Amino acid sequence: MEPVLEVKDLSISFTQYQGGTRRRVLPVIRRLSLTIEAGQVVAVVGSSGSGKSLLAHGILGILPYNSHMEGELRYRGEPLTPRRAEQLRGKEIVLVPQGVTYLDPLMKVGPQLRGGRRDAQARAQSREVLARYGLGPETEERYPFELSGGMARRVLIATAAAQSPKLLIADEPTPGLDARAAGRILGHFQEIAQQGAGVLLITHDLELALTIAQKVAVFYAGETVEEAGAEDFAAGRLRHPYTNALWNALPQNGFTPIPGSQPWPGEEGSGCPFAPRCPRRSAACAGDIPWRTVNGGQVRCLYPEGGEKP
Ligand SMILES: Nc1ncnc2c1ncn2[C@@H]1O[C@H](COP(=O)(O)OP(=O)(O)OP(=O)(O)O)[C@@H](O)[C@H]1O
Ligand SMILES: [Mg+2]
Repeated sequence: MEPVLEVKDLSISFTQYQGGTRRRVLPVIRRLSLTIEAGQVVAVVGSSGSGKSLLAHGILGILPYNSHMEGELRYRGEPLTPRRAEQLRGKEIVLVPQGVTYLDPLMKVGPQLRGGRRDAQARAQSREVLARYGLGPETEERYPFELSGGMARRVLIATAAAQSPKLLIADEPTPGLDARAAGRILGHFQEIAQQGAGVLLITHDLELALTIAQKVAVFYAGETVEEAGAEDFAAGRLRHPYTNALWNALPQNGFTPIPGSQPWPGEEGSGCPFAPRCPRRSAACAGDIPWRTVNGGQVRCLYPEGGEKP
């Protein structure tokens, strides 16, 4: 079967004007690749500012006007053009957005859930979906400002799930929630995947991602540096030095910090953006780094662990 979503060599940049007339192109995402199969949860893990939300918006075709996107997007075997994305958005392809501000503040929850449909079947469906997410039928009559943060988040998930999507993109769906509440929310996404949808889980929390994802794509400064199986983490089969560093920074793995910080967009040179912080770097890391297969996973590194030396 065709993958639900294929992203190949995707780049997103912004055009900025400085001092009125000086024009500058700021690359934010560079040659990013990722594949999601039906029934699979794929996590995209990266720190703040690494381009995670832009990836989501790029797939949905809702990037801001001053942006420019290149590369290939395929949805169920066919090119995902902005026009096709617009037709599928909110139906087959749904977003659980990063902020609860995406709810329409002037519209009651019920009509938002039903997406304009008014028939009895739509009403029954919206109640059923609310109940599934632990929300009473009275929630339909509420405005977003009358909901607590946690309720608003569940309404967003309910709105997405109500469409029986084939691709669900969840952008940082558990901010500030304790482990139990976050686990419950992730359980909902797992269920949606088990019903056959592809789920793209965007998060900065590797530990949380590993609780439901089958595959993890690791982002660093707008590039995918590795695509690993979830089981590769505990098995010590990671390939990229940054993925290893992320894993070792988890409390249960000794909290080992990585010195230095991620470059800002436009600050990275050519070559590997992680090189300045990398213990394995050489002069060659300033050059072009191919995306290649090592031990059944993908990595963009000249000196991956478990790989042959160039
Ligand atoms: N409209 C825009 N114009 C210029 N730069 C932008 C624009 N939108 C986003 N960026 C830049 O793109 C980079 C990536 O942003 P993005 O929101 O995708 O990060 P993120 O990984 O989702 O971060 P977070 O974890 O904080 O949500 C950021 O450095 C941001 O400043
Ligand atoms: Mg974001």
